[in-house]
Amino acid sequence: MKIIVNGTLITPGGKMEGSLAMDGDRIVRIGDITPSDGDEVIDASGCFVYPGFIDGHTHLDLPVAGTVTADDFASGTTAAVCGGTTTVVDFATQYKGDTILNALETWKKKAVGKSKANYAFHMAICDWNEEAKAMLPALREAGVTSFKVYMAYDTALTDSEILEVLREVKKFGGVTGCHCENGGLVTALQKEQLEAGHTDTSAHPLSRPAEVEAEAVNRFCYLGRLADAPINIVHLSTRLGLEEIRKARKEAGTCGVKAGEACPSDGGFRIYVESCPQYMLLDDSCYSKKDFEGAKYVCSPPLRKQSDIDALKEAVLLGEIDTIATDHCSFRFDTQKQAGRDDFTKIPNGAPGIEHRPVVMMKIFGDDLSPSDYCRLMSENPAKVFGMFPKKGALIEGADADVVVWDPNVKWTISAAGHHQNVDYTPFEGLEVSGRPRYVFVGGTLAAENGEPTAACAGTYVKR
Ligand code: URP
Ligand code: ZN
Ligand code: ZN
Repeated sequence: MKIIVNGTLITPGGKMEGSLAMDGDRIVRIGDITPSDGDEVIDASGCFVYPGFIDGHTHLDLPVAGTVTADDFASGTTAAVCGGTTTVVDFATQYKGDTILNALETWKKKAVGKSKANYAFHMAICDWNEEAKAMLPALREAGVTSFKVYMAYDTALTDSEILEVLREVKKFGGVTGCHCENGGLVTALQKEQLEAGHTDTSAHPLSRPAEVEAEAVNRFCYLGRLADAPINIVHLSTRLGLEEIRKARKEAGTCGVKAGEACPSDGGFRIYVESCPQYMLLDDSCYSKKDFEGAKYVCSPPLRKQSDIDALKEAVLLGEIDTIATDHCSFRFDTQKQAGRDDFTKIPNGAPGIEHRPVVMMKIFGDDLSPSDYCRLMSENPAKVFGMFPKKGALIEGADADVVVWDPNVKWTISAAGHHQNVDYTPFEGLEVSGRPRYVFVGGTLAAENGEPTAACAGTYVKR
């Protein structure tokens, strides 16, 4: 057995001084444990011991805008485990003309044998039709319980299609997420910017203002309410969008994840909310950087104003945001992002972050959040919303041995020079941070040590 000793365990009941034993891929004991001969003893003095962090929003090996994301499952999950993330929920994406079952097979092939972290898939439904509807139960059988629809891009569904998806997914207790931006408005506003001669990156946030998100959030909340189905608002970035969620939750008397409860699978209207560290740290002044550097931050929704940052941080502190994910969607600056040098609308949208989410969150919030809060936002709640709790997201006997020994005292500076993401920049370049995983176990196997990967490739598919 592997026995972690001398650490502070972050359990569902709170902090606990004690030891944790792993046998194979399971946590078998928590408490006072005396190691026996042959046990491997792992020292966690001065460290917090967390259930492995779960990133509920990644795009690995994703074809977009005539290119493919720079990180595939090998590099992306290597970076993930180095930063303490032991499970990713990636977006298998159905393209027009494809079936959702084929999309799942395609994504499984991208991950199998390559993923250092455990992996599950949401299904991004981009071509809703009778065939997709008929295949949903088979997808459920294959372990896919969460879905995403888009209101923008050429992957967008109509409102009536989204309503149907919500009703069908509700039937088996799944949850539907949505990219909430009004795509028609984005297209019109982009055209306006280009016609006015604004081709550089500073036009990106102007073409996707807060109203574009808030209107879509409002609409998705009403669609969820109409379907009486659970919804997940992904990558929330604005104060205006947050206000729509507050209003919708209040009017319907509903909430997100309730403390101390697993998420119900009986399907009634609930609004789960996800945001990402970049929306709580960086603002839209990044788009005015010289030498096309603004392209590094071109993601959608865009970075916002300080007032939005303040509102999102307040919502995190009030427990109104359920999960923190990355929306990791990486493109190289020296090549891929250059596609939009003369036209900001041609810059592939997305930014890297899979390696740095836990430490950046701790930088943003410090002691304003407790270790139990970090656990809730980045492990427990994603496990609950996406149907993995308590096998994942909790240090309890019988759970999967995905464990992070986190040393809060290591001081270091984030830089692309030392990171493991397969991309030539990070939006967090130069950020001085405290904390790094000393050991990261995926299914009981050591996957990273002191921020560096081991040779092990221990990730397995999480059938939910
Ligand atoms: O710009 C981003 N975030 N690209 C990834 C796809 C999405 O909308 O989540
Ligand atoms: Zn999105
Ligand atoms: Zn995304």
